[in-house]
Amino acid sequence: MSQAQLLVTSALPYANGHIHLGHLVEYIQTDIWVRFQKLRGRRCIYICADDTHGTAIMIRARQEGIREEELLQRMHQAHTRDFAGFQIAFDHYGSTHCEENRQLCWEIWQALRAAGMIYQQEVRQLYDPEVGTFLADRFVQGTCPNCHAPNQYGDSCDRCGHHYDPIDLIDPRSTLSGARPEVRSAVHLFVDVEKQHAFLEEWTQSGDHLQPEIANYLRGHFLGQPLRPWDVSRPAPYFGFEIPDSPGNYWYVWFDAPIGYMASTWQWCKREGEDFDAWWANPETQIWHFIGKDITYFHTLFWPAMLRVSRYQLPRRIQIHGFLTVNGEKMSKSKGTFILASTYLKYLDPAYLRYYYASKLTPRVDDLDLQFDDMAEKADGDLVGKIVNLASRTARFVVSTGLASSWPDDGGLFAQAAAEGQQIAEAYEACDFNRAIRLILAAADRANQYVERQEPWKLAKDPEQAEQLQNVCTVALNLFRQIIVYLAPVLPRLAEQTGQLLHVPIRHWDDSQKPLLGTPVRPFEHMIKRVDRQAISAMIEESRQPEELSAPSAQSRVVPAAKPTAAETAGSVAQSTASPSASSDWQDEETPFQAEPLAPPCTIEDFQKIDLRVARIIQAEDVPKAKKLLRLTLSLGGQNRRTVFAGIKGVYKPEDLVGRLVILVANLAPRKMAFGTSEGMILAAGPGDGEIYLLAPDPGAKPGQRVH
Ligand code: MSP
Ligand code: ZN
Repeated sequence: MSQAQLLVTSALPYANGHIHLGHLVEYIQTDIWVRFQKLRGRRCIYICADDTHGTAIMIRARQEGIREEELLQRMHQAHTRDFAGFQIAFDHYGSTHCEENRQLCWEIWQALRAAGMIYQQEVRQLYDPEVGTFLADRFVQGTCPNCHAPNQYGDSCDRCGHHYDPIDLIDPRSTLSGARPEVRSAVHLFVDVEKQHAFLEEWTQSGDHLQPEIANYLRGHFLGQPLRPWDVSRPAPYFGFEIPDSPGNYWYVWFDAPIGYMASTWQWCKREGEDFDAWWANPETQIWHFIGKDITYFHTLFWPAMLRVSRYQLPRRIQIHGFLTVNGEKMSKSKGTFILASTYLKYLDPAYLRYYYASKLTPRVDDLDLQFDDMAEKADGDLVGKIVNLASRTARFVVSTGLASSWPDDGGLFAQAAAEGQQIAEAYEACDFNRAIRLILAAADRANQYVERQEPWKLAKDPEQAEQLQNVCTVALNLFRQIIVYLAPVLPRLAEQTGQLLHVPIRHWDDSQKPLLGTPVRPFEHMIKRVDRQAISAMIEESRQPEELSAPSAQSRVVPAAKPTAAETAGSVAQSTASPSASSDWQDEETPFQAEPLAPPCTIEDFQKIDLRVARIIQAEDVPKAKKLLRLTLSLGGQNRRTVFAGIKGVYKPEDLVGRLVILVANLAPRKMAFGTSEGMILAAGPGDGEIYLLAPDPGAKPGQRVH
């Protein structure tokens, strides 16, 4: 292995969603690999950033009535906090929304132009006249042109699997406004990737840039035919960078996202006083991208084609991992297995997950299954039982004496594990963390057998055996430390604690090759706890999204309004605060009215704290899977919109609601619910369960007007 400097990246997570345990497969994998390289003394930097552009961010910011930049800042904070919680140690974590990125995009764009790879063509696309934007596939719904299934998204049909152009949808509707989209044409710019076909054939099929299964996949699916041109521009309005030589057009998010790897490196260079070209334009740099299999073709076809025409380095390696499943299935909100990084950290030690993922990661693209029982057993059995126990059972006997000053006879155990360091290092290098862990555990097993044979706790009872006791503990603690050096890339915190226990920090892989002698030992302090099984259940409970919300019990009923959160946009969980369902015995109007006891009196000042507003329903749609919920988009006048989830499915037909006025509790403190964060409620009367009466002002009231 040459000692070229390494520049390592993980894929840039989208800024419109929170980090979840699926993402962490990648960030933990990359972090372990980087920490390993640094421990070996390699010059290595780990670069990442938020991926910030595109329609989804633009729409969310509008919905929240804030500027995109504000949303980005909030998510940047959340992401860096979550990553830090899992000890992911980036050298720099930037954002694609920065001047460095704009400049680099322009530079690479000009190189593509110069290579004759850009051409333009008219594209017909659906346009929402109300919101004033072209509609990405996921923002259009309509009837499938093939099987006539209703409510299908713009790209393909859930029912028959047919792929189509959104223009061909029957009766299309914008999911942003409910408006009927128009077909408009616009000029788009395309990258003629086919011009790099021969190069890509060569680059993907040789030179160890890709895993063999990926190289085969590309040959089978893409390289056997001409490569399709890539549509890299979007007309305004679009949140991104405007293309300087094509005003009114913006680079598509996937054009500027990988360039973000470079921009973020540039920022790091500025901070550290380094030369950007010495990294990205230097053949002595090996660039490694860690990514998930879902984004393979952006990284293995478009990205090398973009770099090829520029003056920058091609990746040395694109290392691709599979997807996370939980208990053998896709992560599921209703099962509570769609777990956010921040939720995990409320309940469990990140070391458990880092160790578990490490023990499962191989160089292959296979999916990786998380089973919490299994994770708990590995943490308890391996980390606590086999590893930390080596120190907890021996350290206290040598606190007063320190370690022996010459190496006792250990039957060759230390030398054996030292020699195995080479194989363990090769396993890490090859991203075969599973194999590295197996080798380390075998060494731990031998160390435990040694301690059990020597029984230091018995020696401690006999003052005559003091020297033997010191020798045994010296061996045990050095075997322990050796194992911790090997595990340091996976468990950095444990490595630090070990450094403190033995007074000598772990700094280099070679610390595994030589025992500590004559050094002091601190009293053992707790390092890793056994896993609390109840904490696992509580974490899953908190992540579980119930089938639906139930109606609160009251004669005047309030229908909850909610707004999708970032978490939800990313397909992640939100908490439920559903109240118990009202079961009414009322049969019909003739049933004698049983008044609910009145609430305690309130003053006019109390009442005025509640900001009630007139709102117009501008869109109503089914929430699939929920029995009672409809998703409503409310207008409060102008661009002021709210998304509301109301438990009125089956009572009101969505199409009957559009255009209606309702009363919204507009200043209710945000509250997390099953489908997002509730930012208000709409008012209704009735006991629920099929009997609900939305309250409405008399005609003439205007959206946004206050209700007194
Ligand atoms: N923004 C793009 C990447 C741009 S890179 C120039 C993106 N973002 S993402 O947030 O959706 O995903 C970030 C990374 O996490 C991707 O590599 C993706 O494969 C990975 N994962 C996201 N969900 C995952 C699982 N459930 N399991 C494993 N990896 C997952 O894609
Ligand atoms: Zn269909």
